[in-house]
Amino acid sequence: MNEQLRIVMIASECVPFAKTGGLADVVGALPQVLRAMGHEVIVVMPKYEQIDYVRHGLNPYLDSMGVWMGNTQEWCRVHMTTRAGVPVYFIEFHEYFSRPGLYHDAAFNDYADNPRRFGFLTRAGLQLCKDIGFRPDIVHVHDWHTALAAAYLKIWHWDDPVLGRAASVLTIHNIAYQGIYGAEHMDYLGLQWSNFTPDKFEDHGRINFLKGGIQYADMVNTVSPTYANETRTPELGYGLAPYLNDKGDRYVGILNGVDYSQWDPATDQQIPARYDAERLEGKAICKRELQRRLGLDAVDAPLIGVVSRLVEQKGLDLLAQAIEPILANMHVQFAVLGSGEKELEAYYGGLPARYPGRVGSYIGYSDELAHWIEAGSDFFIMPSRYEPCGLNQMYSLKYGTLPIVRGTGGLEDTVQQYDEATGTGTGFKFYEPSAHAIYYTVGWAVSTYFDRPHHMRAMIKQAMAQDYSWERSADAYVQLYRRAIAVKG
Ligand code: ADP
Ligand code: GLC
Repeated sequence: MNEQLRIVMIASECVPFAKTGGLADVVGALPQVLRAMGHEVIVVMPKYEQIDYVRHGLNPYLDSMGVWMGNTQEWCRVHMTTRAGVPVYFIEFHEYFSRPGLYHDAAFNDYADNPRRFGFLTRAGLQLCKDIGFRPDIVHVHDWHTALAAAYLKIWHWDDPVLGRAASVLTIHNIAYQGIYGAEHMDYLGLQWSNFTPDKFEDHGRINFLKGGIQYADMVNTVSPTYANETRTPELGYGLAPYLNDKGDRYVGILNGVDYSQWDPATDQQIPARYDAERLEGKAICKRELQRRLGLDAVDAPLIGVVSRLVEQKGLDLLAQAIEPILANMHVQFAVLGSGEKELEAYYGGLPARYPGRVGSYIGYSDELAHWIEAGSDFFIMPSRYEPCGLNQMYSLKYGTLPIVRGTGGLEDTVQQYDEATGTGTGFKFYEPSAHAIYYTVGWAVSTYFDRPHHMRAMIKQAMAQDYSWERSADAYVQLYRRAIAVKG
């Protein structure tokens, strides 16, 4: 049972090359841990314009690779670099990937040819295995972008000497994004019209990438046990709950891990001072420096951090309704980092001018400031409407920054509710998705800060002792792979 597995991961993003969210963190970390466990893993992703050849040490690998898309053969180039022993291959195809954004233009409009771009990436990832003679046991794909690999394996490659043995695993990082496109793309995607049926790709006359992936994949998982249950319900399944339920125990939840080589206050080189659970003086320095950097008053008030994509999923519109009453009635400060929807950007970007010294914000993307906020805040708030896993609350625990979260998905699984009677717990949870619930729960956290400092200290200790390292999750993925192989037979 312990034999080495050969795994190809095909994905649309991967740290440190291209990232819009936690998907990139997962695809960046999991292969390295699997490799350390003795498995052989390669990663395939697009060569986006923003990926610098020199900085990332990309070398030309294949000068031309032909990829069949329907009756058209597209010719691309492949570059390669190695990261902690894991080969990462980049598909270079200017027509599709040489543009400023990964998925959309600066105005947040999705590129109209996304189905072709990511259908192509998916097929190129499989073709690459053939061209370099990599015979995978597992093809592991992520989200709608590459979900069709599961279908391609069964439709096209079932008797292929290189790909025919491979079992497929699909990881769903967010079921709200399904990749639903007009049927006119069927031919280019090479999906065969006989498969354009509701039990496969067809979804109200259109093609649904994620649905197709779910139907064909040998095993499907999502990124926390609670989200796995939630997506089986009409409310959070976004139309796919029946298909996930049909999958039975071939659909499971595996919590993401944290890359503690990047996110540990004891070793973090990006923050102003280092600290751990025994020596918290450094955390006080991080708070002072964060206050200074964001123009906040140097006072002893609980500082609440936000690092987030500013989109509906994250519930920051609800926080926007609660934040001014909170500022009016409580002695608190906020540090906000995010980018996304224009309205929310304008709102949070405008708060510091209206609440000088009490709210600091930076609209944009900054990995360094994300680390500073994790280290320098007392609390970290995530009022998500849904949250498949969420990474920031796990970072917060490690940084002794107590999470204030809505108990959904991975937030429910990783944050333990504060018990006022005993002082145990690692954070503050609410369940109703409302401004009122946010107001009330922030008030609870603030009163704990001022009135029960001994509970704060105990919770910080307990939070910092939590271990969400990838090793445990990687074990669960290996079991998932073995099940996929057994299912495929
Ligand atoms: P999601 O993938 O839904 O955005 P996660 O919590 O899984 O949510 O992952 C978000 C990741 O992106 C974290 O690593 C977080 O620090 C990072 N992040 C989000 N927004 C920003 C930002 N504006 N600047 C820097 N990092 C950000
Ligand atoms: C998605 C989810 C987030 C999860 C991440 C990585 O972007 O929104 O909750 O942590 O994927 O799996």
